[in-house]
Amino acid sequence: MLQGKKILLGVTGSIAAYKSILLVRLLIREGATVRVIQTPASRDFVTPLSLSTLSRNPVHSDLFAADTWANHVELGRWADLLIIAPLSCNTLAKMATGLCDNLLVATYLSATCPVVVAPAMDEDMWNHPSTWSNLQKLESYGNRVIPVEQGELASGLFGDGRMAEPETILKFIEPILGGAESAPPAQPQSLTGKKALVTAGPTHESIDPVRFIGNHSSGKMGIAIARELARRGARVTLVLGPSALSIEEPGITVQRVTTAAQMFDACVKAFDDAHVAVLSAAVADYTPAAPVNEKIKKNDGSLMLELVKTRDILKTLGEMKKTGQLLVGFALETKDGREYALAKLKAKNADFIVLNSLEDQGAGFGLDTNKITIFGTGGFEQAFGTKSKQQVAKDIVDTIVKSR
Ligand code: CTP
Repeated sequence: MLQGKKILLGVTGSIAAYKSILLVRLLIREGATVRVIQTPASRDFVTPLSLSTLSRNPVHSDLFAADTWANHVELGRWADLLIIAPLSCNTLAKMATGLCDNLLVATYLSATCPVVVAPAMDEDMWNHPSTWSNLQKLESYGNRVIPVEQGELASGLFGDGRMAEPETILKFIEPILGGAESAPPAQPQSLTGKKALVTAGPTHESIDPVRFIGNHSSGKMGIAIARELARRGARVTLVLGPSALSIEEPGITVQRVTTAAQMFDACVKAFDDAHVAVLSAAVADYTPAAPVNEKIKKNDGSLMLELVKTRDILKTLGEMKKTGQLLVGFALETKDGREYALAKLKAKNADFIVLNSLEDQGAGFGLDTNKITIFGTGGFEQAFGTKSKQQVAKDIVDTIVKSR
Protein backbone atom coordinates (compact mmCIF):
# COMPACT_ATOMS: atom_id res chain seq x y z
CA MET A 1 0.00 0.00 0.00
CA LEU A 2 3.02 2.28 0.39
CA GLN A 3 4.40 1.67 -3.08
CA GLY A 4 6.72 4.48 -4.14
CA LYS A 5 6.46 6.33 -0.80
CA LYS A 6 9.63 7.72 0.72
CA ILE A 7 9.76 7.32 4.46
CA LEU A 8 12.37 8.71 6.76
CA LEU A 9 12.46 6.85 10.08
CA GLY A 10 14.04 8.51 13.11
CA VAL A 11 15.12 6.13 15.88
CA THR A 12 15.91 7.49 19.35
CA GLY A 13 17.35 6.00 22.53
CA SER A 14 14.65 3.86 24.05
CA ILE A 15 14.29 0.20 24.87
CA ALA A 16 11.45 0.18 22.29
CA ALA A 17 14.05 0.77 19.54
CA TYR A 18 13.98 -2.99 18.84
CA LYS A 19 10.51 -2.44 17.39
CA SER A 20 11.94 -0.01 14.84
CA ILE A 21 13.61 -3.02 13.18
CA LEU A 22 10.20 -4.64 12.76
CA LEU A 23 8.75 -1.35 11.57
CA VAL A 24 11.41 -1.00 8.85
CA ARG A 25 10.67 -4.53 7.67
CA LEU A 26 6.95 -3.81 7.55
CA LEU A 27 7.40 -0.55 5.62
CA ILE A 28 9.72 -2.21 3.10
CA ARG A 29 7.26 -5.08 2.70
CA GLU A 30 4.54 -2.52 1.93
CA GLY A 31 6.66 -1.10 -0.90
CA ALA A 32 8.09 2.02 0.75
CA THR A 33 11.64 3.29 0.36
CA VAL A 34 13.04 3.73 3.84
CA ARG A 35 15.99 5.76 5.08
CA VAL A 36 16.89 5.72 8.75
CA ILE A 37 18.39 8.37 11.00
CA GLN A 38 19.61 7.23 14.41
CA THR A 39 20.38 9.44 17.37
CA PRO A 40 23.68 8.60 19.05
CA ALA A 41 21.87 7.19 22.13
CA SER A 42 19.79 4.83 20.01
CA ARG A 43 22.91 2.95 18.90
CA ASP A 44 23.12 1.44 22.38
CA PHE A 45 19.76 -0.19 21.75
CA VAL A 46 19.84 -1.15 18.08
CA THR A 47 22.77 -1.32 15.67
CA PRO A 48 23.09 0.70 12.45
CA LEU A 49 23.97 -2.60 10.75
CA SER A 50 20.54 -4.12 11.50
CA LEU A 51 18.72 -1.00 10.35
CA SER A 52 20.81 -0.49 7.21
CA THR A 53 20.48 -4.15 6.23
CA LEU A 54 16.71 -4.13 6.58
CA SER A 55 16.18 -0.68 5.08
CA ARG A 56 18.63 -1.46 2.23
CA ASN A 57 20.10 2.01 2.72
CA PRO A 58 22.99 3.35 4.79
CA VAL A 59 21.93 4.65 8.18
CA HIS A 60 22.49 8.35 8.84
CA SER A 61 23.66 9.30 12.24
CA ASP A 62 26.20 12.09 12.49
CA LEU A 63 25.67 15.73 11.71
CA PHE A 64 29.35 15.91 10.84
CA ALA A 65 31.16 12.70 9.86
CA ALA A 66 34.93 13.04 9.23
CA ASP A 67 35.19 16.06 6.93
CA THR A 68 31.69 15.79 5.43
CA TRP A 69 28.51 17.48 6.43
CA ALA A 70 25.32 15.41 6.43
CA ASN A 71 22.74 17.32 4.49
CA HIS A 72 19.74 17.32 6.79
CA VAL A 73 17.89 19.71 4.51
CA GLU A 74 18.14 17.24 1.64
CA LEU A 75 16.95 14.41 3.92
CA GLY A 76 14.06 16.49 5.25
CA ARG A 77 12.95 17.42 1.75
CA TRP A 78 13.39 13.93 0.31
CA ALA A 79 10.80 12.30 2.54
CA ASP A 80 7.05 11.99 2.01
CA LEU A 81 6.76 11.31 5.74
CA LEU A 82 9.04 11.53 8.76
CA ILE A 83 8.24 9.01 11.50
CA ILE A 84 10.08 9.15 14.77
CA ALA A 85 9.60 5.81 16.49
CA PRO A 86 10.42 5.37 19.25
CA LEU A 87 10.36 8.96 20.43
CA SER A 88 12.20 9.37 23.72
CA CYS A 89 11.48 12.11 26.27
CA ASN A 90 14.82 13.68 25.43
CA THR A 91 14.20 13.99 21.69
CA LEU A 92 10.61 15.09 22.39
CA ALA A 93 11.89 17.98 24.52
CA LYS A 94 14.39 18.97 21.81
CA MET A 95 11.71 18.91 19.11
CA ALA A 96 9.34 20.96 21.25
CA THR A 97 11.92 23.64 21.91
CA GLY A 98 13.83 23.59 18.62
CA LEU A 99 17.09 22.40 20.13
CA CYS A 100 19.29 21.19 17.30
CA ASP A 101 22.23 19.10 18.48
CA ASN A 102 22.04 16.00 16.32
CA LEU A 103 21.16 14.97 12.79
CA LEU A 104 17.67 13.75 13.65
CA VAL A 105 16.48 16.99 15.26
CA ALA A 106 18.19 19.04 12.54
CA THR A 107 16.31 17.01 9.92
CA TYR A 108 13.06 17.37 11.87
CA LEU A 109 13.48 21.13 11.90
CA SER A 110 14.09 21.14 8.14
CA ALA A 111 11.39 18.64 7.20
CA THR A 112 8.68 19.92 4.88
CA CYS A 113 6.67 16.66 4.96
CA PRO A 114 4.13 15.48 7.57
CA VAL A 115 5.72 14.31 10.82
CA VAL A 116 4.40 11.47 12.97
CA VAL A 117 5.83 10.46 16.33
CA ALA A 118 5.36 7.30 18.39
CA PRO A 119 6.42 8.08 21.97
CA ALA A 120 7.86 5.40 24.23
CA MET A 121 8.56 5.95 27.87
CA ASP A 122 7.90 4.76 31.36
CA GLU A 123 4.48 5.51 32.84
CA ASP A 124 5.68 8.14 35.30
CA MET A 125 7.57 9.97 32.55
CA TRP A 126 4.53 9.69 30.29
CA ASN A 127 2.33 11.22 32.99
CA HIS A 128 4.72 14.08 33.75
CA PRO A 129 3.19 17.45 32.84
CA SER A 130 6.29 18.37 30.82
CA THR A 131 5.67 15.39 28.51
CA TRP A 132 2.08 16.47 27.88
CA SER A 133 3.03 20.07 27.33
CA ASN A 134 5.81 19.05 24.91
CA LEU A 135 3.49 16.74 23.00
CA GLN A 136 0.89 19.48 22.79
CA LYS A 137 3.56 21.79 21.38
CA LEU A 138 4.37 19.21 18.70
CA GLU A 139 0.69 18.96 17.85
CA SER A 140 0.45 22.71 17.62
CA TYR A 141 3.23 22.51 15.00
CA GLY A 142 0.99 20.12 13.02
CA ASN A 143 2.83 16.92 14.00
CA ARG A 144 0.76 13.81 14.72
CA VAL A 145 1.18 11.75 17.87
CA ILE A 146 0.43 8.02 17.84
CA PRO A 147 -1.09 7.17 21.23
CA VAL A 148 1.02 5.05 23.54
CA GLU A 149 -0.28 1.66 24.58
CA GLN A 150 -0.72 0.04 27.94
CA GLY A 151 1.35 -2.98 28.89
CA GLU A 152 4.56 -4.19 30.45
CA LEU A 153 7.20 -1.46 30.55
CA ALA A 154 10.99 -1.58 30.63
CA SER A 155 10.87 -0.80 34.36
CA GLY A 156 8.98 -4.03 34.93
CA LEU A 157 5.88 -2.04 35.84
CA PHE A 158 2.60 -2.34 33.98
CA GLY A 159 1.04 0.83 32.67
CA ASP A 160 0.88 3.47 29.95
CA GLY A 161 3.88 4.37 27.85
CA ARG A 162 4.56 1.42 25.55
CA MET A 163 5.29 2.44 21.99
CA ALA A 164 2.52 1.51 19.56
CA GLU A 165 3.10 -1.76 17.73
CA PRO A 166 4.55 -1.50 14.18
CA GLU A 167 1.21 -2.71 12.71
CA THR A 168 -0.60 0.08 14.57
CA ILE A 169 1.92 2.64 13.31
CA LEU A 170 1.36 1.38 9.77
CA LYS A 171 -2.42 1.78 10.13
CA PHE A 172 -1.91 5.29 11.48
CA ILE A 173 0.30 6.49 8.65
CA GLU A 174 -1.54 4.92 5.71
CA PRO A 175 -4.28 7.59 5.50
CA ILE A 176 -1.68 10.34 5.89
CA LEU A 177 0.39 8.98 3.01
CA GLY A 178 -2.74 8.24 1.02
CA GLY A 179 -3.51 11.94 1.02
CA ALA A 180 -6.63 11.64 3.18
CA GLU A 181 -4.99 13.53 6.02
CA SER A 182 -1.99 15.11 4.38
CA ALA A 183 -2.73 18.55 5.79
CA PRO A 184 -1.81 19.18 9.39
CA PRO A 185 -4.85 19.03 11.68
CA ALA A 186 -6.73 22.31 11.78
CA GLN A 187 -6.31 22.49 15.53
CA PRO A 188 -4.10 20.94 18.15
CA GLN A 189 -5.28 17.52 19.19
CA SER A 190 -5.68 18.78 22.75
CA LEU A 191 -6.44 15.45 24.44
CA THR A 192 -3.01 13.89 24.33
CA GLY A 193 -2.24 12.12 27.56
CA LYS A 194 -5.90 12.04 28.57
CA LYS A 195 -7.93 8.93 29.21
CA ALA A 196 -11.51 8.68 28.08
CA LEU A 197 -14.31 6.26 28.77
CA VAL A 198 -17.11 5.91 26.23
CA THR A 199 -20.16 3.66 26.33
CA ALA A 200 -22.03 2.71 23.18
CA GLY A 201 -24.68 0.41 21.83
CA PRO A 202 -27.61 -1.32 23.46
CA THR A 203 -27.66 -3.81 26.30
CA HIS A 204 -29.40 -7.18 26.22
CA GLU A 205 -31.15 -8.46 29.32
CA SER A 206 -31.79 -12.18 29.29
CA ILE A 207 -35.32 -13.48 29.80
CA ASP A 208 -34.42 -17.09 29.02
CA PRO A 209 -31.66 -18.70 26.90
CA VAL A 210 -33.30 -17.57 23.64
CA ARG A 211 -34.91 -14.22 24.43
CA PHE A 212 -33.80 -10.88 25.73
CA ILE A 213 -34.98 -7.33 26.32
CA GLY A 214 -33.03 -4.95 24.11
CA ASN A 215 -33.40 -1.76 22.12
CA HIS A 216 -32.66 -0.39 18.68
CA SER A 217 -29.36 1.33 19.47
CA SER A 218 -26.72 0.59 16.82
CA GLY A 219 -23.70 1.95 18.68
CA LYS A 220 -22.83 4.30 15.78
CA MET A 221 -22.92 7.50 17.83
CA GLY A 222 -20.72 6.19 20.64
CA ILE A 223 -18.23 4.65 18.22
CA ALA A 224 -17.97 7.97 16.38
CA ILE A 225 -17.30 9.72 19.71
CA ALA A 226 -14.64 7.15 20.67
CA ARG A 227 -12.98 7.69 17.28
CA GLU A 228 -13.01 11.45 17.62
CA LEU A 229 -11.56 11.37 21.14
CA ALA A 230 -8.79 9.03 19.95
CA ARG A 231 -8.12 11.24 16.93
CA ARG A 232 -7.45 14.11 19.35
CA GLY A 233 -4.93 12.02 21.22
CA ALA A 234 -6.96 10.50 24.08
CA ARG A 235 -6.57 6.87 25.04
CA VAL A 236 -10.10 5.56 24.92
CA THR A 237 -11.79 2.64 26.63
CA LEU A 238 -14.93 1.89 24.67
CA VAL A 239 -17.43 -0.21 26.59
CA LEU A 240 -19.54 -1.56 23.78
CA GLY A 241 -22.83 -3.39 24.19
CA PRO A 242 -24.02 -6.04 21.74
CA SER A 243 -23.75 -3.93 18.59
CA ALA A 244 -23.29 -5.45 15.15
CA LEU A 245 -20.50 -2.94 14.58
CA SER A 246 -16.92 -3.48 15.54
CA ILE A 247 -13.99 -1.13 15.73
CA GLU A 248 -10.27 -1.68 15.77
CA GLU A 249 -8.29 1.51 15.89
CA PRO A 250 -5.14 2.89 17.45
CA GLY A 251 -5.89 4.47 20.80
CA ILE A 252 -9.15 2.60 21.38
CA THR A 253 -9.47 -0.43 23.64
CA VAL A 254 -12.82 -2.12 23.20
CA GLN A 255 -14.48 -3.96 26.07
CA ARG A 256 -17.45 -5.97 24.88
CA VAL A 257 -20.33 -6.40 27.31
CA THR A 258 -23.86 -7.72 26.98
CA THR A 259 -25.91 -6.67 30.00
CA ALA A 260 -26.45 -3.44 31.89
CA ALA A 261 -24.82 -5.02 34.94
CA GLN A 262 -21.68 -5.89 32.94
CA MET A 263 -21.58 -2.39 31.49
CA PHE A 264 -21.92 -0.96 35.00
CA ASP A 265 -18.97 -2.99 36.31
CA ALA A 266 -16.75 -2.15 33.33
CA CYS A 267 -17.54 1.58 33.62
CA VAL A 268 -17.03 1.88 37.35
CA LYS A 269 -13.61 0.27 36.93
CA ALA A 270 -12.54 2.37 33.93
CA PHE A 271 -13.84 5.66 35.36
CA ASP A 272 -11.37 5.66 38.21
CA ASP A 273 -8.49 7.11 36.17
CA ALA A 274 -10.50 8.56 33.28
CA HIS A 275 -10.38 12.28 32.61
CA VAL A 276 -13.51 12.24 30.48
CA ALA A 277 -16.48 9.87 30.30
CA VAL A 278 -19.11 10.05 27.60
CA LEU A 279 -22.00 7.69 28.21
CA SER A 280 -23.91 7.32 25.00
CA ALA A 281 -25.10 3.72 25.42
CA ALA A 282 -28.79 2.97 25.51
CA VAL A 283 -28.71 1.03 28.76
CA ALA A 284 -31.73 -1.04 29.75
CA ASP A 285 -33.47 0.58 32.70
CA TYR A 286 -35.07 -2.72 33.71
CA THR A 287 -33.96 -6.33 33.63
CA PRO A 288 -35.90 -9.55 34.27
CA ALA A 289 -36.02 -10.24 38.00
CA ALA A 290 -35.39 -13.94 37.53
CA PRO A 291 -34.03 -15.01 34.13
CA VAL A 292 -34.55 -18.73 33.69
CA ASN A 293 -32.16 -21.35 32.34
CA GLU A 294 -34.74 -23.22 30.26
CA LYS A 295 -36.71 -21.80 27.36
CA ILE A 296 -40.09 -20.49 28.56
CA LYS A 297 -42.80 -22.60 26.91
CA LYS A 298 -45.95 -21.09 25.49
CA ASN A 299 -49.22 -21.75 27.34
CA ASP A 300 -52.83 -20.63 26.97
CA GLY A 301 -52.71 -17.69 29.35
CA SER A 302 -50.75 -14.46 29.22
CA LEU A 303 -47.21 -14.21 30.55
CA MET A 304 -46.22 -11.87 33.35
CA LEU A 305 -42.59 -10.86 33.42
CA GLU A 306 -41.29 -9.22 36.56
CA LEU A 307 -38.64 -6.60 35.89
CA VAL A 308 -36.30 -4.96 38.34
CA LYS A 309 -34.38 -1.74 37.91
CA THR A 310 -30.80 -1.83 36.66
CA ARG A 311 -28.19 0.37 38.29
CA ASP A 312 -27.82 3.79 36.69
CA ILE A 313 -24.25 4.06 35.43
CA LEU A 314 -24.32 7.79 34.71
CA LYS A 315 -25.74 8.59 38.14
CA THR A 316 -23.17 6.37 39.86
CA LEU A 317 -20.26 7.95 37.97
CA GLY A 318 -21.75 11.36 38.84
CA GLU A 319 -21.53 10.39 42.52
CA MET A 320 -17.97 9.09 42.09
CA LYS A 321 -16.78 12.10 40.09
CA LYS A 322 -13.63 13.80 41.38
CA THR A 323 -12.25 17.24 40.57
CA GLY A 324 -10.83 17.27 37.07
CA GLN A 325 -13.12 14.53 35.75
CA LEU A 326 -15.68 15.48 33.15
CA LEU A 327 -18.89 13.52 32.74
CA VAL A 328 -21.13 13.64 29.69
CA GLY A 329 -24.46 11.85 29.44
CA PHE A 330 -27.07 11.50 26.75
CA ALA A 331 -30.81 11.95 26.92
CA LEU A 332 -32.98 10.35 24.30
CA GLU A 333 -36.47 11.75 24.57
CA THR A 334 -39.71 11.53 22.66
CA LYS A 335 -41.20 14.71 24.18
CA ASP A 336 -40.33 17.62 26.50
CA GLY A 337 -36.66 17.05 25.65
CA ARG A 338 -35.30 20.28 27.11
CA GLU A 339 -36.98 19.80 30.51
CA TYR A 340 -35.90 16.16 30.79
CA ALA A 341 -32.36 16.90 29.66
CA LEU A 342 -31.98 19.67 32.25
CA ALA A 343 -33.42 17.42 34.93
CA LYS A 344 -30.94 14.66 34.01
CA LEU A 345 -28.02 17.11 34.06
CA LYS A 346 -28.80 17.92 37.67
CA ALA A 347 -29.96 14.52 38.91
CA LYS A 348 -26.90 12.73 37.53
CA ASN A 349 -24.31 15.39 38.41
CA ALA A 350 -23.17 15.46 34.77
CA ASP A 351 -21.20 18.31 33.22
CA PHE A 352 -23.04 18.00 29.92
CA ILE A 353 -26.14 16.25 28.67
CA VAL A 354 -26.45 15.67 24.96
CA LEU A 355 -30.10 15.66 24.00
CA ASN A 356 -31.33 13.87 20.93
CA SER A 357 -35.02 13.94 20.46
CA LEU A 358 -36.89 11.34 18.46
CA GLU A 359 -39.25 14.20 17.56
CA ASP A 360 -36.51 15.55 15.30
CA GLN A 361 -36.11 14.23 11.80
CA GLY A 362 -32.63 12.83 11.21
CA ALA A 363 -32.12 11.89 14.87
CA GLY A 364 -32.37 8.45 16.37
CA PHE A 365 -31.28 4.85 16.36
CA GLY A 366 -29.55 3.29 13.39
CA LEU A 367 -29.41 6.49 11.33
CA ASP A 368 -26.15 7.94 10.05
CA THR A 369 -27.23 11.42 11.13
CA ASN A 370 -28.18 13.00 14.42
CA LYS A 371 -29.47 16.33 15.69
CA ILE A 372 -28.40 17.33 19.15
CA THR A 373 -28.60 20.07 21.72
CA ILE A 374 -25.92 20.14 24.42
CA PHE A 375 -26.84 21.37 27.89
CA GLY A 376 -24.12 22.12 30.41
CA THR A 377 -23.78 23.30 33.96
CA GLY A 378 -23.95 27.06 34.43
CA GLY A 379 -26.71 27.48 31.85
CA PHE A 380 -24.73 26.32 28.82
CA GLU A 381 -27.03 25.41 25.93
CA GLN A 382 -26.10 24.93 22.28
CA ALA A 383 -28.27 23.53 19.53
CA PHE A 384 -26.80 22.02 16.37
CA GLY A 385 -28.36 21.22 12.99
CA THR A 386 -28.81 17.75 11.53
CA LYS A 387 -25.35 16.39 10.79
CA SER A 388 -23.53 13.11 10.19
CA LYS A 389 -22.79 11.23 13.41
CA GLN A 390 -19.10 11.81 12.72
CA GLN A 391 -19.65 15.57 12.64
CA VAL A 392 -21.86 15.39 15.74
CA ALA A 393 -19.04 13.55 17.51
CA LYS A 394 -16.71 16.43 16.56
CA ASP A 395 -19.16 18.98 18.00
CA ILE A 396 -19.42 17.02 21.25
CA VAL A 397 -15.65 16.63 21.58
CA ASP A 398 -15.11 20.31 20.70
CA THR A 399 -17.48 21.23 23.53
CA ILE A 400 -15.55 18.96 25.91
CA VAL A 401 -12.18 20.39 24.86
CA LYS A 402 -13.35 24.01 25.13
CA SER A 403 -14.73 23.47 28.62
CA ARG A 404 -11.44 22.15 30.04
N1 CTP B 1 -27.80 5.50 31.62
C1 CTP B 1 -26.93 4.80 32.38
N2 CTP B 1 -27.35 3.72 33.08
C2 CTP B 1 -28.62 3.31 33.03
C3 CTP B 1 -29.54 4.03 32.23
C4 CTP B 1 -29.09 5.12 31.54
O1 CTP B 1 -25.76 5.18 32.44
N3 CTP B 1 -29.00 2.23 33.70
C5 CTP B 1 -27.28 6.69 30.93
C6 CTP B 1 -27.37 6.67 29.42
O2 CTP B 1 -26.21 6.12 28.84
C7 CTP B 1 -27.51 8.15 29.11
C8 CTP B 1 -28.23 8.70 30.33
O3 CTP B 1 -28.06 7.77 31.36
O4 CTP B 1 -26.24 8.78 29.05
C9 CTP B 1 -29.67 8.97 30.14
O5 CTP B 1 -30.32 7.81 29.69
P1 CTP B 1 -31.88 7.83 29.42
O6 CTP B 1 -32.33 6.44 29.08
O7 CTP B 1 -32.22 8.94 28.47
O8 CTP B 1 -32.41 8.29 30.84
P2 CTP B 1 -32.80 7.54 32.12
O9 CTP B 1 -32.04 8.12 33.23
O10 CTP B 1 -32.68 6.07 31.93
O11 CTP B 1 -34.30 8.00 32.32
P3 CTP B 1 -35.59 7.73 31.38
O12 CTP B 1 -35.35 6.40 30.71
O13 CTP B 1 -36.69 7.73 32.34
O14 CTP B 1 -35.64 8.88 30.43
